[in-house]
Amino acid sequence: MCGIVGYVGNKNAQDFLISGLKRLEYRGYDSAGIVTLSENGEATLLRAKGKIVNLEEKLLENRREDKIGIGHTRWATHGEPSEVNAHPHQAGKIYLVHNGIIENYKELRRHISGHDFKSQTDTEVLVALINSFYKDGEYPLANAVVQALKLVKGTYGIAVVSAENPEEIVVARSGSPLVIGIGTDETLLASDASALVGHTKRAIYLNDGEVAVIRKDSVEIKTLNAEPVSLRVEEIETNLSAIQKGGYDHFLLKEIMEQPESLAETLRGRINAEDGTVRLGGPGLSAAELRKIKHLVIVGCGTAYHAGLLAAYYIEQFTPEITIETVIASEYRYRNAYIPEDSVALIVSQSGETADTLACLRSIKEKGIRTIGIVNAIGSTIAREVDGGTYVHVGPEISVASTKAFTSQMIAMVMFGLTIAQAKGVPAMMLKNYVEEIVALPEAIRETLAEATEPVKEIVSNYVDYDHAIYLGRDTAYPAAMEGALKLKEVSYIDANAYAFGELKHGPLALVDDRFFEMALLPKGELYEKAVSNVQEVLARNGHIIAITNVEDFDLEVESVLRISSKIELFAPVLMNLVMQLFAYYVTIGKGYNVDQPRNLAKSVTVE
Ligand code: M6R
Repeated sequence: MCGIVGYVGNKNAQDFLISGLKRLEYRGYDSAGIVTLSENGEATLLRAKGKIVNLEEKLLENRREDKIGIGHTRWATHGEPSEVNAHPHQAGKIYLVHNGIIENYKELRRHISGHDFKSQTDTEVLVALINSFYKDGEYPLANAVVQALKLVKGTYGIAVVSAENPEEIVVARSGSPLVIGIGTDETLLASDASALVGHTKRAIYLNDGEVAVIRKDSVEIKTLNAEPVSLRVEEIETNLSAIQKGGYDHFLLKEIMEQPESLAETLRGRINAEDGTVRLGGPGLSAAELRKIKHLVIVGCGTAYHAGLLAAYYIEQFTPEITIETVIASEYRYRNAYIPEDSVALIVSQSGETADTLACLRSIKEKGIRTIGIVNAIGSTIAREVDGGTYVHVGPEISVASTKAFTSQMIAMVMFGLTIAQAKGVPAMMLKNYVEEIVALPEAIRETLAEATEPVKEIVSNYVDYDHAIYLGRDTAYPAAMEGALKLKEVSYIDANAYAFGELKHGPLALVDDRFFEMALLPKGELYEKAVSNVQEVLARNGHIIAITNVEDFDLEVESVLRISSKIELFAPVLMNLVMQLFAYYVTIGKGYNVDQPRNLAKSVTVE
């Protein structure tokens, strides 16, 4: 949520800041700003409401050769999106950009005198507070930042510059990520390593409670209590093509279409098709420890939560004597939930930075429960704080709507379940179908995407004008329907909600009329006939049904049918989800909306 960039070196700072902000725009896109400093301390502050292109327009008349600066793209928390609320904020000679929320900003504001507040933001309070501590001496800016941060309650990732010292940027984090890129005669800063790709491969991920002073040829890190921290330089693995559209019109379509390869990456080296076994090194659990697991808690938000719901349906099918609870992180963090000691918690997050998920991770760890990350972003906070984990390795997911991460998170969790089942002595014969289908899934995904694209395109014009949709499924198709509904609503703004087919008569059936269409997931299997009966009930009320099915002789007279011919059965809901992803994409294109950056949302929800 929000993006931060910074630059100090020998090149043009404005160029890096703007290109970096463009890479981070998916994290927040309601306003943006940069400040750069000349050698003699002259500041050029540019801010604009809306997208980065608006900021670029201002840049045309304000080009500078400055070699140091900071920038920000905003997702509003305090104060509406506007130029005056956009970052950087200024107090005296100091400029600051901030991700996160200063919870005690009202109290802090009472301690500040002589500052004329211009914005409604919590961030301006912080920069004014820093300014109030800013005095001559050694490390004047870093000292002022530390004194101010000691009074702050809340979360922050900040970058601060002073026009009196145009050689250094002071950065600090607590709960909001920051990555320092080490270049040759230049040091870069970003809240997400993707902004550094192509500039350097060497990065330092700042930890909570650390403050760094970065100059073009040095980085110095200390804790808030002034203890020195040794530099931990890591490699950025992402390459440039992974963060570009690669010939697609939108990241969303690219990421949907990437799923054969991204799932193959998730599986690589972890599954042995010949003997039907799964090996996951990352969780770090011995066979004896796996055998002891009696309870799984799966924690996530949004799509990650849905992946957990679906994985739970599978894991309980083949793992004996285990209970599974899948929870929404923002709820679970405030519940007084008892977790038995023979539990393991799966912490699921694409970004690895989601604030609620991170809070759950920390509180579960405090209870002495082992935590396993199912994370995509390498080096992210959750990835670093879990006891063990399995990276899903799907590469950067730029579109705000999560797609390829869902598929891989779900399968990674099922693979973890399979390792438990193996350790508990479940015969390989009983797990065979799961393993075989997982191995076959990347190819089945490729076929399904190829098969479904044209039929989806053909029907979307019939549905773009609806305001409401009901998504329906039973058993494993139910969590898939929940994910399908989330995808449609977040990008197309059609109010879509999912129900278990069996719940229809308990209320939602009352909704069926011409304002709604119904997306019915109808996979082969034991419950198919029951789902068909539910479809009949909707048809009897003149419902507008789109059926997604892999049943060859499907002959119900519904409005539209989207067929899947793959032989995959257990994981058919995963394939159905691809079709729903395509549907959400093409409906949104039909409506003419920004499919990669839906209104009001941002990727990586780092505030509560
Ligand atoms: O980065 P995370 O996986 O922790 O993110 C969780 C949710 O914020 C995310 O899945 C969100 O719901 C997406 N916009 C859904 O497409």
